[in-house]
Amino acid sequence: MHWTAKIVLFVSLVNRINAAKPSSCSDIRVVDLSHVHGPEPLTAPFFPAYSFKVVNRSISQELGGIWFETNYIGTSEHSSTHIDAPSHFYRNRLRMHQLPLERLYGPGVIIDVRKQVSRNPFYKVQISDIRRWEASHGRIPNKAVVLLSSGWDKRYPDPNVVFNTKTTSDITSYRFPSFEFNAIIFLAKFRSVHAVGSDTPAIYLNSAKIDLSGFTFLFQRNIPVILNVANLERLPPSGSTVFLPAINIYDGSGAPVRVFATVPASKMKYKY
Ligand SMILES: *[C@@H]1O[C@H](CO)[C@@H](O)[C@H](O)[C@H]1NC(C)=O
Repeated sequence: MHWTAKIVLFVSLVNRINAAKPSSCSDIRVVDLSHVHGPEPLTAPFFPAYSFKVVNRSISQELGGIWFETNYIGTSEHSSTHIDAPSHFYRNRLRMHQLPLERLYGPGVIIDVRKQVSRNPFYKVQISDIRRWEASHGRIPNKAVVLLSSGWDKRYPDPNVVFNTKTTSDITSYRFPSFEFNAIIFLAKFRSVHAVGSDTPAIYLNSAKIDLSGFTFLFQRNIPVILNVANLERLPPSGSTVFLPAINIYDGSGAPVRVFATVPASKMKYKY
């Protein structure tokens, strides 16, 4: 090989190695996957109402004449975009302050069923949907955060539209996308996941009766659940990292979360 050809080859190899690793934050995009918390955060009708009280919002002479704002909030742990700790529906399982931070993030696995949901708003993610994801992107990575993307986030926060019912007090009347029980078993038993979540108010919903077995199957295994996630259509199906930075509430059974993802710029579906 001529020496100039050798140099060209060497330079192109170095460039390829440099391109392979993100060199700075400018190569990473951050995507907000949460709804705003308030003024009417979605929650189950039987929880106490959200309360936001202005405590101080004026020039404060006590503080030397500066502007001073503080508020008091009272909120259900299980409102708007939030995490359910395993203790929520399972005795002697992890509460919020017992969930290690290392388990509150992982590779994003986005199961996109928006097409199925446009035909059937009560669609349930099946094992075949998960298999289809794996056929394109490989086996679900360990520590994954698996999220159901149905497009339901566009309905928030009106409870009648989100729960898709005229009678929000009747849980059995709720009609929105979720996972099939078998799909939940598959994720909990045959894959190693950090969390399972949805852009709807529940990962499991039985139309016939009140049935939380899809939740308890995960909670028994100390796998938390993420609900009312938003903006999943902005993420690639694989290649993101999803973060679940929940407030570390002592003895909490859940907490509001500013769920977000980081995505290598080259993997962004939309540039913005
Ligand atoms: C904040 O508001 C409370 C209640 O109105 C008042 O008692 C307190 O003096 C205020 N604090 C400051 C530093 O202005």
